[in-house]
Amino acid sequence: MNKDNEEPMRGLFITGTDTGVGKTMVTAAIAAALRADGCQAGVWKPVQSGAGLGSGETDAERLLQLTGIKEQPDTVAPYTFEAPLAPMLAARLAGVTLTLQELIAAGKPLIERYDALLIEGAGGVAVPLNDDALIVDLIAELQIPALIVARSGLGTINHTILTAAFLSQHRIPILGVILNDCDDQDIQNDPSVVTNAELIEQYSGLPVLGRFPFLPAEVHTDLFIHTARKSIQLAPIKKALKIVPR
Ligand SMILES: Nc1ncnc2c1ncn2[C@@H]1O[C@H](COP(=O)(O)OP(=O)(O)OP(=O)(O)O)[C@@H](O)[C@H]1O
Ligand SMILES: [Mg+2]
Repeated sequence: MNKDNEEPMRGLFITGTDTGVGKTMVTAAIAAALRADGCQAGVWKPVQSGAGLGSGETDAERLLQLTGIKEQPDTVAPYTFEAPLAPMLAARLAGVTLTLQELIAAGKPLIERYDALLIEGAGGVAVPLNDDALIVDLIAELQIPALIVARSGLGTINHTILTAAFLSQHRIPILGVILNDCDDQDIQNDPSVVTNAELIEQYSGLPVLGRFPFLPAEVHTDLFIHTARKSIQLAPIKKALKIVPR
């Protein structure tokens, strides 16, 4: 995927071990921190399902609200389907067949407008987009590296290693893993959280680039940026996005 057929696109695909693991939170946190550091970073959600634009509940609207980026939600998420189903099924209910080419073409305005894009997937890597393609095929077509968001708690070693293996099978470079504290109560009662990061590094060979803490629902932008800087290693992300350090 080229910006002008010469320069490779500067993007990072934020995938996850499952739906609901915190991809939107982590995507927004990285974008907000990069923007606070002076980079013109944008967000893109190629396809979303489960709510309609205008509800305030779609990922595109949450990404814009959390980052403060001024953009139209339907530009950030050109394909939105209301049914609470995987994109392929939600699209089919709306009479639409998704193609990789059309999904990517719809992101062109964002690719052209921003220095770097944080692209949020839908669910995990093996989520169907159409009869022939999964999310992993979209990442491969974009020719950008992936970052895996995973739960901090019990079960995450298995899910993360499986996700990494599937990405590697499709020759997608993986920048690393970010663990996310999706649920405060669960995390506090889970003794696995203290060893999960090092075991993921040991068995997958991937770096864990941070553990994002549980935040209150209405988090102030300053605290959001501060939390991102404190909990996520931004240097390897900037390097992958070819953002020159200031
Ligand atoms: N670090 C966190 N602190 C507080 N709440 C969180 C955190 N991470 C996730 N959540 C909450 O958990 C829910 C799921 O998170 P999120 O929507 O980011 O997951 P997702 O992986 O983007 O899901 P989807 O597959 O639907 O895109 C949301 O309600 C979100 O606000
Ligand atoms: Mg999301």
